Amino acid sequence: MKYIIGNWKMNMSAGEIVAFTRGVKKYKIPKNSNVQFGLAVPYVYILGMAKIQDHVWIGAQNVSEHDNGAFTGEISASMLGDVGLDFCIVGHSERRSLFNETDEQVNAKIKKLQEYDVMPLLCIGETEAQYEAGSTKEVLLSQITKAFEGIDKTKSIIVAYEPVWAIGTGKSASVETIRETVGFIRGEIRKLLGHNDTPILYGGSVNPSNSNAILRNAQVDGALIGGASLDADKFMQIASSLF
Ligand code: PGA
Repeated sequence: MKYIIGNWKMNMSAGEIVAFTRGVKKYKIPKNSNVQFGLAVPYVYILGMAKIQDHVWIGAQNVSEHDNGAFTGEISASMLGDVGLDFCIVGHSERRSLFNETDEQVNAKIKKLQEYDVMPLLCIGETEAQYEAGSTKEVLLSQITKAFEGIDKTKSIIVAYEPVWAIGTGKSASVETIRETVGFIRGEIRKLLGHNDTPILYGGSVNPSNSNAILRNAQVDGALIGGASLDADKFMQIASSLF
């Protein structure tokens, strides 16, 4: 199975979502393509999306690490489970950098999602300074180890390798870098979980011009797509690299 997951971030209006859905439906998805589509949408659109998208996973972009209670403005994992959400992004670099989310919070969020059977999609990635200092592997290993501490190893989780310097910059990592780094991540996750079943996606400026090379040659299980997932044509052109 391969995965094409869009992360809409804080974008889209109801009208734009209708246009997006119409745009996507123009594309024929081959029956044997074995591609699972997913969209991480803003909370307010989740219930509407669940109705219009049949075979597409609908996910959230964040979740509280707390149980239900006096946490004004937060959304709990039990609520996400209650409305039948398929997945939830955890630890996106924007949450880590703009909202000071720590590895400990990321770990707590994964555990809460597992409790309510919402699949976590964990994002990890090094900053530009860490990349230039040659500490990518060290950073990723620390993020993975802390995120996986005490989680239920029998439940599915997806991991996305997203170099922070490649997100929204138009500067994707090279196929060689992705292949090598994803291979490293795969090996470390195998050691931590004792199996090889965790899909690993790449994210960071994936677009229709680089998606063939990345999705076909970088030994990834799919892509997490930000900017290009706001446009039905770009999103489907990226996906067609896997058809
Ligand atoms: P981008 O975002 O595709 O716009 O670089 C990726 C992401 O943040 O998941």
